[in-house]
Amino acid sequence: MKAVVTGGAGFIGSNLALELEAQGHEVVVIDNLFSGNMANLEGFSGDFVNADIREINWNEIAGDADAIFHNAAITDTTIPDKELMMDVNAHSFEKLLEFAIKKNIKVIYASSAATYGSGKMPMEESQKPAPLIDYGASKVEMDNIAKKYIAKYPDAEIIGLRYFNVFGPREKFKGKSSSLTYQWIIKMQDPEAKTIKMFKFGEHARDHIYVKDIVSANLKALEFNGSDIFNVGTGIGTSYNRILEILNGQMGKNCRPEYIDCFLKTYQGFTQADTTKAEKELKFRAQWNIERGIGDYIEFLGKEY
Ligand SMILES: NC(=O)c1ccc[n+]([C@@H]2O[C@H](COP(=O)([O-])OP(=O)(O)OC[C@H]3O[C@@H](n4cnc5c(N)ncnc54)[C@H](O)[C@@H]3O)[C@@H](O)[C@H]2O)c1
Repeated sequence: MKAVVTGGAGFIGSNLALELEAQGHEVVVIDNLFSGNMANLEGFSGDFVNADIREINWNEIAGDADAIFHNAAITDTTIPDKELMMDVNAHSFEKLLEFAIKKNIKVIYASSAATYGSGKMPMEESQKPAPLIDYGASKVEMDNIAKKYIAKYPDAEIIGLRYFNVFGPREKFKGKSSSLTYQWIIKMQDPEAKTIKMFKFGEHARDHIYVKDIVSANLKALEFNGSDIFNVGTGIGTSYNRILEILNGQMGKNCRPEYIDCFLKTYQGFTQADTTKAEKELKFRAQWNIERGIGDYIEFLGKEY
């Protein structure tokens, strides 16, 4: 199979591209290195196309593809340019779908738990979107575009994956947008580190999912026949106090939480996926619980640094 991975020099895209290649597929990565980095693709031997998805000639690069895994996006949620966010994340996605449908190419795209905002929990695919920030709104727009094309082209294959809070190898180039789990591991590698800052009182809880599970969900989506949108989470919310406790335990540290006021205007304090639909229809169930995921990640980072 020939697979195209947009955003393949980024965190999730690179993990996916490397696994697809390891499974023997021909893989082409498209990325403009906005937040991605070639270092994420160490060991990758497929083609790399440095291009902006807003301007790309899809036919030239992906005309003979069997599937497109669309992960390219502006992922820094603090970028204040709403138009840019919509343009890159949503409008270029519509152009991609127009092309893929004509060519009968399967599209698996990254949506987000940010579409749910502070909506009811556990979060179900069918509940009303309630994004708190422009980034979330751009992902709702992507889902709306997907739904429009799914209704118009019943034979098309368009699968949306609403990733929850992803952590794991190859996220360092995301900087301040990387997971707090990553940022805390790096901080705690410093022998002088005694405290870890978190919003009062550490009880915000997110559905943290290990990137290897995200890759598995994409592979399940490849086998799925038809079109739909699925949550990709573990179904469990874990508090930041608990994350610190796990890190202390696994790193042999004793860092204390330092509680600070939440300085963000809007904050999605809690997420938890309802995994029923993904388990039943996509046949996806997360295999890495938070403790094992963090353990595997610490081992990876130990080798890297
Ligand atoms: N990491 C998470 O927790 C999470 C959660 C939900 C959804 N997602 C979604 O998953 C996808 C991948 O996110 P990630 O965490 O790997 O972030 P990332 O920033 O590492 O990856 C995004 C990639 O897209 C590339 N890109 C940005 N604009 C581009 C453009 N105009 N043309 C071509 N490439 C462009 C970047 O250079 C980067 O490599 C995104 O769509 C994101 O919205 C991520």
